[in-house]
Amino acid sequence: MATLVFWDGRTDSLWAQAVQPLENPVEMGSDRNFIATTIYEAEDLRRQYETIFGPLPPLSLRSRFPRHARPVTTDPAHPHQRAWMAMAQDDRAEVNRVLTNVTKAIAAFERTIVSRDSPFDHYVAARRSGDPSGGGYLSGSALRGARLFFGRANCFVCHTGSNFTDGEFHNVLSRLPDDPLDPGRYRGILLLQHDPFNSLGAYSDNRHARIGTLVSRLVRTTEQLGQFKTPTLRNIARTAPYMHDGRFATLRDVVRFYSELPGKPPLGHREDFMHPLFLNAQEQAELVAFLESLTDESALPRLRHPVTAPSR
Ligand code: HEC
Repeated sequence: MATLVFWDGRTDSLWAQAVQPLENPVEMGSDRNFIATTIYEAEDLRRQYETIFGPLPPLSLRSRFPRHARPVTTDPAHPHQRAWMAMAQDDRAEVNRVLTNVTKAIAAFERTIVSRDSPFDHYVAARRSGDPSGGGYLSGSALRGARLFFGRANCFVCHTGSNFTDGEFHNVLSRLPDDPLDPGRYRGILLLQHDPFNSLGAYSDNRHARIGTLVSRLVRTTEQLGQFKTPTLRNIARTAPYMHDGRFATLRDVVRFYSELPGKPPLGHREDFMHPLFLNAQEQAELVAFLESLTDESALPRLRHPVTAPSR
């Protein structure tokens, strides 16, 4: 299920994922009518949009398209929800179409972000081309960390493949003192199946894709309580804090956690084969050194200079 996105797998494509942070009050806190209207009113944005996706709806007609509106299904009295429900169904569909075109453009950009130039990638390439020293790309410490990662510490069982993730969901964490219970994948499946922007929905370009069949057939079981998606470990040294709830500030904290596995998960039970690793301080430092060797420095400057003009 490598294509499910978010820690709890509640969307099934990059573009459907991008919808949520735009409108989430704790992230960008915007709303879809405002986004569509902003593009309509900014001459260059509108020209760029229409070149790619065709004419925008008449978003200056305030009687049909209020400046602020979005569905807020949890709060029927919210002004955005009231404005949204007051719109004609066809107009809501028009705004949704603009929103999804915008997020498909974002997803197209995201697909250009490829990371494969880390010291570990160079090490593997050197080994494959017959150099037993691996080109000297890894320090002795990182190398011993890699041996732990792919050996006794069992990390690779879940963090596997070229992105260091099996794309699956597992129950790993322990309960924190004030843990708000997060059912993880158990709720994620429900949210995914009800997401109007999922691969089976009206805005999907590929309703017959295999992912749609998977989405419609997903069954909820209590095993999924507390499960979260195995995250990639590429560039992991750059993406603190760690875990779905951001509980660890450093990689050292994460590795110490795997070493000790304190406490019990708040919901369900921990993955059966996980046991405390009892790594000593040196081994923990080696694992961290290995994780740090997954950073692709060459990708970082590119991200600071996004493309300014759209291409078709
Ligand atoms: C049973 C599968 C499994 C195993 C084994 C496993 N992980 Fe994980 N890992 C996960 C999952 C799932 C998460 C996310 C957990 C969460 O947030 O609830 C995670 C999170 C992480 C994170 C934080 C990533 C981020 O973006 O926040 C790091 C770092 C990590 N693991 C490293 C390791 C290392 C090192 C090992 C071996 C000592 C290991 N993992 C073993 C499944 C696994």
